[in-house]
Amino acid sequence: MAPRARVSPGDLVRVGKDTPGGEWLRRYWLPLSRDEDLLDIPRALRILGEDLVLFRDPDGRPGLLGQYCPHRGTSLEYGDVETGGIRCPYHGWLFDVRGQCLEQPAEPKDSTFYRRVRHLAYPVREQGGLLFAYLGPDGDRPPPLPRYAPLVEPGGQRQIEPVRHLDYNWFNFWENSADPCHLSILHRHSAYGDQTWGNQFFDYHDMPDFEPVETGYGLTIVMRKPGPSPDTEYVDEMSLAFPSIIQIGDTELVHLKIEQAATLRDGGRNTHLLFLTPNDDYHFMIFTVDHYTGPEPDFFAKLAQMRAHEVPRQEVKPYDRREYMPFRGSVRQEDVMTQATQRLLGEREERLATSDRGVLALRRLAQQAVAAAQRGERPKGVLAPEAAERVVRFDSFVGVRPRTSSLHPAAAR
Ligand code: FES
Ligand SMILES: [Fe+2]
Repeated sequence: MAPRARVSPGDLVRVGKDTPGGEWLRRYWLPLSRDEDLLDIPRALRILGEDLVLFRDPDGRPGLLGQYCPHRGTSLEYGDVETGGIRCPYHGWLFDVRGQCLEQPAEPKDSTFYRRVRHLAYPVREQGGLLFAYLGPDGDRPPPLPRYAPLVEPGGQRQIEPVRHLDYNWFNFWENSADPCHLSILHRHSAYGDQTWGNQFFDYHDMPDFEPVETGYGLTIVMRKPGPSPDTEYVDEMSLAFPSIIQIGDTELVHLKIEQAATLRDGGRNTHLLFLTPNDDYHFMIFTVDHYTGPEPDFFAKLAQMRAHEVPRQEVKPYDRREYMPFRGSVRQEDVMTQATQRLLGEREERLATSDRGVLALRRLAQQAVAAAQRGERPKGVLAPEAAERVVRFDSFVGVRPRTSSLHPAAAR
């Protein structure tokens, strides 16, 4: 076999089959729908550049098949879901959730041709209200679906937001979370600068120091400032877990603004998790999960109320035709404008600076993971079979803690 070329940053952004990035992402389980959004009709979905159809058979089993019928190509999006699986409306070929053809009504009665037709099918599993699919090699024996703590832990309150769809490359969104400087700059007009914690911790003129710290699951960005007493420090951590997950811990301080003193003392209690699933090189979906374990009984209702105020508040002049206007005032809109206009990593020109050390660390780890997948090894974030039962946790501590010389306990793990 010819030796593989070195993995470059530009290799991280392509998701199609037979690209280094696409081969890498196909080692993981990726969310593709909320469970509640899969109703009694099939749904066409593009995942990692592949056209697929998602449905639930009458026994409740979710199936993910190639969108186009292997007979003569009609879209199974219009198929009938019935006992056994999904039936193509054109000539009635019936497929189960494993892609096996069960019936071909127009063939001779004694034909066994149907047995030899197996359509493209990928395994799907449900966890905590999300459906995950594995598009990788060996679909009959996929790696374990990690048991993500915010999805599987009993107790507390859980919420999964409606899926967001964005039309630029997914990697721009992921690596943005390894760039904490933008919180103090881009977001100073919105939630991050608009309250005590924001004005103090994320102060534009006195930004927190930060370091990227490699962990077993990926990378944690640890932001720190001197604490209220000499032996303490303020900390805000966010994690990037492989292959495309972000965990943030400062929701209560940034968006809800309740009980600031107590929250800082005891640490944040809402885990905010974002799963990114690329549809193709220029589109991706965001699955947003919150798991709250604090005392506030109507936490998510209050959060929704506060988020409703986070809308762009920028004046737009009548002759202003710029696509992403207005954006200032909403964290999400600010992120979309900056990331959607960046163009593809690997194709854009860049002049990287010291403050890009988080982004650089993430790219380096991702390049290593892509290379590991190319060598047939298990890349970061893919669990060994024996770790299947373990609950997978990421670090996102926010609050006051004793000042440490080591940046982050996870670094020692
Ligand atoms: S095209 Fe689907 S059964 Fe003929
Ligand atoms: Fe942001």
